[in-house]
Amino acid sequence: MQTQILQAQANSIQRAYQLLLNSELVAIPTETVYGLAAHAFDEQAVARIFAAKERPKFDPLIVHLAQQPEMSLQTLAEQDLIQYELIPDQLQQALNQLIQSYWPGPLTLVLPRHARVPDLVTSGLDTVALRVPAHPVAQALLDYGLPLAAPSANRFGRISPTTAQAVYDELKGRIPLILDGGPCEIGLESSVVGIQDQSLCLLRPGKLGLAELSTAAGLTVALAQAHPAEVRAPGMLKSHYAPRLPLKLMPSETELLRYLQSHSERPGVLLLESGTETTRAIETRSRDLGGKVIYLSQNGDLAECARSLFTAMRELDQDLDYLLAVLPAAGDGLSHAIRDRLAKAAYNNQSE
Ligand code: TXA
Ligand code: MG
Repeated sequence: MQTQILQAQANSIQRAYQLLLNSELVAIPTETVYGLAAHAFDEQAVARIFAAKERPKFDPLIVHLAQQPEMSLQTLAEQDLIQYELIPDQLQQALNQLIQSYWPGPLTLVLPRHARVPDLVTSGLDTVALRVPAHPVAQALLDYGLPLAAPSANRFGRISPTTAQAVYDELKGRIPLILDGGPCEIGLESSVVGIQDQSLCLLRPGKLGLAELSTAAGLTVALAQAHPAEVRAPGMLKSHYAPRLPLKLMPSETELLRYLQSHSERPGVLLLESGTETTRAIETRSRDLGGKVIYLSQNGDLAECARSLFTAMRELDQDLDYLLAVLPAAGDGLSHAIRDRLAKAAYNNQSE
């Protein structure tokens, strides 16, 4: 199959819609990462997502919806997406407030599913993940009226793509069309909020952190407890987002420099800021070793670091011996999400 990349505009978006109607897949930009979309109620199309990504069937998909005026649990129930009656009474107002605050935006809600949602989308779970993306291209496509099941547009277990070219590198020959909407503004996948023990919980950290979500909900949103038997959300698998090269994480620039001084392999180094004495020493030492340094931001701005993280990991993930990254200080929201993605990317070689 030939994979076309088309600049997203009215006629290419219409072409995408036609493909989706014919059970084909289309990669689309969202504000978080690129998604691999199929008509969510078309089982043949959804099956193709799992085939193209080599994704195991136990990993459920997010259903993306068009923004409509006054969205609420009620309107989701009216569209046969969720079962309103199964949501604990004390959470209904909080969930409606999250919907009003963050849709469209980088928030996914996992709610009791309606029977009409295909089993393949939910992996047979009794919940469905829903999100309204803010990206104008995703919105324009969704406005044609099809709800779209869309995981990140990478092969399973690999780094999520944040540019059309990265999607192409992952999925060329497997899908007919990539809509190019430019680089993703946030660069990390959405925050996923679900219900555990009658309370709201964060299943996957993203830009929206626990404090912000709790304020908007008017209730505490706590970090999800992973019940190994129950939580089958691969966003929660320990190994995910993996580069090919081994990745080693460092708590500070100073420790990273010390590590470089006692090792001779060629490093690909990810730094959160530039211009300090330590970062200059890291750059010199890396160059001497035949390695390479990428500054995710000039001044440690976490939004900038998030936006460039996956592109930088892809860029370094070739022709070198290993990757090294400095972790941002522990915190909520973006720093939590960046630490989470780095930890998952490093998991396979943590014994080193
Ligand atoms: O930002 C995003 O969320 C991107 C863009 C394309 O929207 N999508 C994305 O999809 O990251 P994916 O499939 O790569 O990650 C979806 C996450 C997975 O961790 C999945 O297990 C979890 O959401 N999930 C989906 N349905 C679920 C459910 N019913 N219960 C628990 N977790 C669920
Ligand atoms: Mg993914």
